[in-house]
Amino acid sequence: MSSEFQALPKVELHLHLEGAAPPAFIRGLAAEKGVDLSRIFTETGGYRFDGFTEFLRIYEAACTVLRSPEDFRRLTRAVLAQSAEAGVIYTETFLSPDFCGGGDLGAWRDYLAAIEDAAAEAQAQDGITLRGIVTCIRHFGPDRARAPAICAAETAGDVITGFGIAGDETVGRPRDYAWAFDCAREAGLGLTAHAGEWGGPASVRDALADLRVTRIGHGVRAIEDPALVAQLAETGTVLEVCPGSNIALGLYKGWAAHPVARLREAGVNVTLSTDDPPFFHTDINREYAGLARAFDWTAEDFTAINRTAAEAAFCDPATRARILQRLEPPA
Ligand code: HPA
Ligand code: ZN
Repeated sequence: MSSEFQALPKVELHLHLEGAAPPAFIRGLAAEKGVDLSRIFTETGGYRFDGFTEFLRIYEAACTVLRSPEDFRRLTRAVLAQSAEAGVIYTETFLSPDFCGGGDLGAWRDYLAAIEDAAAEAQAQDGITLRGIVTCIRHFGPDRARAPAICAAETAGDVITGFGIAGDETVGRPRDYAWAFDCAREAGLGLTAHAGEWGGPASVRDALADLRVTRIGHGVRAIEDPALVAQLAETGTVLEVCPGSNIALGLYKGWAAHPVARLREAGVNVTLSTDDPPFFHTDINREYAGLARAFDWTAEDFTAINRTAAEAAFCDPATRARILQRLEPPA
């Protein structure tokens, strides 16, 4: 791997751990376990799906071969090695108790221990820091959102620092999930919600009002409502923007049509992430390269965006200071 921005230190706030699994990794696990997953792969070995709903189905099919803490230890190690190679120094990944023991707290503790083990190894060997945002999955419904929130609250600490909601944004309303967010907030966790990707500006307003999050996953469709853009800028709400994901799923026609530059010019705190990189044929350096071409953004622009991300990271002050220090260009 080599690209013009590879050496630039980067902070990523929006990465689904299972969604970062290379197809070869999932194919390997499927072979080990004797599971036929050939339907989810293309002839050339990528993930096969058409549109967001099928993406979610294929994603969940891939997760069926992640069955043990050891599988998640290997996954975490592989994903962090890949991110570190791309120049990421700090990453927040979404972790789903639903895929790690089905929401059972005891099982979740075992999975989390394995993930933490891999994270400690990556910190020591590759100098990359991981923090975990436990997520509930919206299309599994509000009742099933309670267990992940309890898992998050019970294991909040050095590694688990946030709580969020992913999945199909068109199902239900944010306020249906308020119990889970209240539980996580009381445990001191940072809060973020996927909104304004498949839902319009109202979905962003609802997530802010009903879940009281400080960050929004995507949030890009706020651009359709100038008053909301002004509100985001004024309140300092941070958007976890994943342009390549939006383009791959057909939300925007290409880099130049993506609203991230307009949001940034309006004073909104935008950050840059990859979401589910192998599914969307991207990595963080491709994101930067696409934006550099479309908007003439330079290394200075990206470092400013990474500072915003470090300021918004769900981490303790000492970690934040260390990350901010590493973002500064050498004198
Ligand atoms: N969006 C929403 N839900 C998800 C995603 C995503 O990109 N990846 C895994 N769950
Ligand atoms: Zn996402």
